[in-house]
Amino acid sequence: MKITTLEEAFIHELSDIYSAEKQLTKALPKMAKAATNPKLAEGFTSHLEETEGQIARIDQLVEKCDIKLKRIKCKAMEGLIEEGDEVIKEIEEGSVRDAMLIAAAQKVEHYEIASYGTLVEIAKQLGWKDAAKLLEATLAEEKATDEKLNFVAVSEVNNEALANAA
Ligand SMILES: [Fe+2]
Ligand SMILES: [Fe+2]
Repeated sequence: MKITTLEEAFIHELSDIYSAEKQLTKALPKMAKAATNPKLAEGFTSHLEETEGQIARIDQLVEKCDIKLKRIKCKAMEGLIEEGDEVIKEIEEGSVRDAMLIAAAQKVEHYEIASYGTLVEIAKQLGWKDAAKLLEATLAEEKATDEKLNFVAVSEVNNEALANAA
């Protein structure tokens, strides 16, 4: 049956990001292992913990709003993770790989920011204030993660990568 209401569309979008977060919990440890820069590796590890908290937040939301998530697989996240795997396979360990791991991770964060941004606004529209608050907390974490990744790139990794090529 096709989706006809905003509420159903919200549940679909939420189910999609739930799958995305679950997939990420498997990918982040691999990315941490593949990184050389200690700040980057630590960043991936701490975002793994955060991601587990984000999954718990969705579980909380589902209970509060009495909704049922759909069993769907987020194909976009599957593809983004696949591209991260390619970075690991194709680039020698070191700062050039780190720079591209950051790029792959930022693509993930931007996908999440887009999804949670939409979910926050739809939750508000539906009058689900508690849900909007939970989703806003996650949105803030994703934005902060994107900024931290950016900082590691411009303050350390990109310079190290350039030195590598010389
Ligand atoms: Fe996340
Ligand atoms: Fe994230």
